[in-house]
Amino acid sequence: MIQRRLFTTVSRMVEEAKKLAGYAAVDNHVKNNQAIGIGSGSTIVHAVKRLAERVKEENLNVFCVPTSFQARQLIIENDLTLTDLDRHPELDVAIDGADEVDSDLNLIKGGGGCLTQEKIVAACAKSFIVVADFRKDSKNLGEQWKKGIPIEVIPMAYMPVSKALQGQFGGVAELRMAISKAGPVVTDNGNFLLDWKFDKVHDWNTINTAIKMIPGVVDTGLFINMAERVYFGMEDGTVSVR
Ligand code: 5RP
Repeated sequence: MIQRRLFTTVSRMVEEAKKLAGYAAVDNHVKNNQAIGIGSGSTIVHAVKRLAERVKEENLNVFCVPTSFQARQLIIENDLTLTDLDRHPELDVAIDGADEVDSDLNLIKGGGGCLTQEKIVAACAKSFIVVADFRKDSKNLGEQWKKGIPIEVIPMAYMPVSKALQGQFGGVAELRMAISKAGPVVTDNGNFLLDWKFDKVHDWNTINTAIKMIPGVVDTGLFINMAERVYFGMEDGTVSVR
């Protein structure tokens, strides 16, 4: 009983932290007539709610590019204007969550499997803004996020890519399975995901480039030198900006 209450209290605190981060990012970075990249995950839900509020209250005219099926649904459900990179190849800002953020603003993303479209959209934005709760804040990648670096792969290549990762860089690369274990998780692009659990700290820029050279790799969940600012919702109800 006490344990359940503690769990509920912590869950509420984390959810409130996500909301604080999402609201702060939208309030500080969204302006009228912008094209905006909309990330994926649970923290971005709060950012989209705030965006919808501001659009109504301030009569803003903004255009939203989704990074996933989930993001597309969020945009539609919140009555925001849906667009794409064909119509808006240059975005003013992209807002997205992260699984871990290091002290140099390098990120691990892709816990929800949307990393490739997230990276494409972030790369199209003048400003890439990250929203996260306090649990994602880390000095070195891997200190907080223990599930490894997600890597999207062409289905026929998952085994050779997994072997190449382990052979060249160590650690263990596992095919991400559906919760039912009935089969692998399939991304919005029809691909599989490997979660590479690395066994030491690497030069992330170099290793990201090296992983992308393995035939069959579509992209990695390493977002290096991309984030301009990160908003962390904190346990004490404040927002920490890095
Ligand atoms: C999905 C992502 C998400 O942005 C990341 O997993 C963070 O999610 P959440 O806000 O639910 O913690 O990269 O591919």
